Amino acid sequence: MSIVVNKAGDTFHLYNDEISYIMKVLPNEQMGQLYFGKKIRPKEDYSYLVETHMRPMSSCVFDTDKNFSMEYIRQEYGVFGTSDYRMPAVEVLQENGSRISDFRYCGYRIESGKPKLSGLPATYTEDASEAETLVVELKDPVSKMSLELFYTIFAEGGIIARSARFLNEGEQDLHLTSAMSLCMDLPDSEYDWLQFSGAWARERYLKTRRLQQGIQSVGSMRGNSSHNHNPFIILKRPTADEFQGEAIGFSLIYSGNFLAQAEVDTYDAARVLMGIHPSGFDWKLESGEEFQTPEAVMVYTDRGLNHLSQTYHKLYQKRLARGYWRDRERPILINNWEATYFDFTEERLVKIAKQAKESGIELFVLDDGWFGKRTNEKAGLGDWVANPERLKNGITGLAQRIEDLGMKFGLWFEPEMVNKDSDLYREYPDWIIQTPNRRTSHGRFQYVLDFSRKEVVDRIYEMMAKILSEAKVSYIKWDMNRSITECYSATLPADRQGEVYHRYILGVYDLYERLTSRFPEVLFESCSSGGGRFDPGMLYYAPQGWTSDDSDAVERIKIQYGTSYCYPISSMGSHVSVTPNHQINRNTPLYTRANVAYFGTFGYELDLSALTEEEQEEVKEQIKFMKQYRRLFQFGTFYRLQSPFEHNISAWMVVSEDKKTAIVGWHRVLNGINLPYTRLHLQGLDEDMLYSVSEDDAAHYGDELMHLGMITTDASSGQDEANMRQDYDSRLYILKAVEGGNLS
Ligand code: GLA
Repeated sequence: MSIVVNKAGDTFHLYNDEISYIMKVLPNEQMGQLYFGKKIRPKEDYSYLVETHMRPMSSCVFDTDKNFSMEYIRQEYGVFGTSDYRMPAVEVLQENGSRISDFRYCGYRIESGKPKLSGLPATYTEDASEAETLVVELKDPVSKMSLELFYTIFAEGGIIARSARFLNEGEQDLHLTSAMSLCMDLPDSEYDWLQFSGAWARERYLKTRRLQQGIQSVGSMRGNSSHNHNPFIILKRPTADEFQGEAIGFSLIYSGNFLAQAEVDTYDAARVLMGIHPSGFDWKLESGEEFQTPEAVMVYTDRGLNHLSQTYHKLYQKRLARGYWRDRERPILINNWEATYFDFTEERLVKIAKQAKESGIELFVLDDGWFGKRTNEKAGLGDWVANPERLKNGITGLAQRIEDLGMKFGLWFEPEMVNKDSDLYREYPDWIIQTPNRRTSHGRFQYVLDFSRKEVVDRIYEMMAKILSEAKVSYIKWDMNRSITECYSATLPADRQGEVYHRYILGVYDLYERLTSRFPEVLFESCSSGGGRFDPGMLYYAPQGWTSDDSDAVERIKIQYGTSYCYPISSMGSHVSVTPNHQINRNTPLYTRANVAYFGTFGYELDLSALTEEEQEEVKEQIKFMKQYRRLFQFGTFYRLQSPFEHNISAWMVVSEDKKTAIVGWHRVLNGINLPYTRLHLQGLDEDMLYSVSEDDAAHYGDELMHLGMITTDASSGQDEANMRQDYDSRLYILKAVEGGNLS
């Protein structure tokens, strides 16, 4: 990996074994983008890439040059109003009402490793040799706003991490009304746009369309990254697929309002913008004040979507997630939510835990309903003290009973929320987000605490820290069950109200940071009515997240498949629940529920005593199996093989680092009859290695399994009673290297 500056000092080339990123100071002193793609050799001059042909109707910057217009020149951080008419990366409102900016190059510096982003989650290095960072320094001579553009290239992977930092070096107040984390001008628009969208209980479905002239975007203005759209998009060449071809991923490490958009202009060039959603955003910078954007991570590959995803998985698993649990196998848990909802007593909980322990489960999680007057959704949020009528010895007593069983204890919180029927609200009614003289909308009878205020975060921190220091709590499920409305903070002046959404998220990050550093061995799982805040920002604090409230196995295939485009398997909370399923009323076989949930953190969300004895035995076997293969599932290399968005039969697999073990998950939604012969082409194996395949007596070489395929045929015919299959069927194929079976 290297960052090369040419002799003239105006061209920067960041490269490693896989990629090159090249930019150049333009004649008008703004920064031009020249290339991002597969590695090319360093060279002194690439100025031929600056496109300055005569274009009728374009406005020009220099009065001596008819060809130099920002309208079509590709840039690093485009501004509006000085001959570029595309959506800008930044907009600065000045005291005279002008929004024109002109950020001119004034220098650069190169830092080994990667500087921290103050108050924000970001990728990091453990050793400075893992990455290098170029900081390009620019300044607007009129507004006196200085701008630093950060570019980190990692030694491994086709990754460029970007962010921007502003500093008001002048005397006047400035307002940032848009400040993107990245602007990427691509020379053409021959791409498919992939987004990950849905709704509550059907998060991150893959949706694809062809890029077209005009603007296409996804985003959130809900205060959280949302179920509806994820802060992640991919542009792939139309001919690229999972296994080959060019693609670029764009991922924002942020949990609040975001925008991800591509604008294709008249000349078919594509500008990608990603960052905090500019709608409603207005950040005031007084003289001497700074603003840091969140980080965005771009990944380039010429080896298909699986390779793109694997690059994100590795980076986010190893250099975004942090702490004690980052590299550790995750405990198999049982959560009482779908077993009891609000209807529980201490004895009932202990009974569930006892039986779970007998099955081999390691962690018991007490969900919603243990605190204040919380016996239904109308009361209690904000009062983080145990309800003595339900838990006579408090959380300390219950946690001890669970520990005495030989299990760990986990607890649910929803720190950002309050019910009006709570002591906290009665004491501080002005602590919620609400706009004066307006109606305040509720969501599930709850209101959002104003986390842009430090005293609010302090108070919640005190309550949570008290429980965590008194009781043996090993895990926290941190929920967030509504979006923000009537956004306004009682303590900010009028000209800072546009800061509330972002300040809110900074408050959430602050609370996470305080709790995770004071209680470093507690495992945090983020949640937002399932997957409403399943984003890289959360992953920095909580190495796993509840992927979706939908625990039905068939639904989960799509949700987990879609989630896997960006997020590692170790980050996906996945549980076995009862049938008929509580969300969709579907009956799936117990083995299918487990076969899908193994590809995640794994756990149960049910009362085991409601199962038949036979099923209870099956659960024990499942847990034994997961313990045996947990490292492979959670930390192996994951491949998508066949998409549930396109096929009745879908498949995915994980391969161990040494390629000696692999597990293929195969799922068929609807059964068929007298079906064709089928094979599945596997990935990631060692061509020369001989593998035994469960469900098969023979052994096969890696090249056979990958190139000619693994046989998956079953006749599923009503004539063959011994081999009758059913709807919602699934299989796991376990591949193991045969001792002495390696040809190389
Ligand atoms: C949300 C979560 C659920 C559960 C409930 C409790 O919906 O996603 O898993 O914790 O809240 O109220």
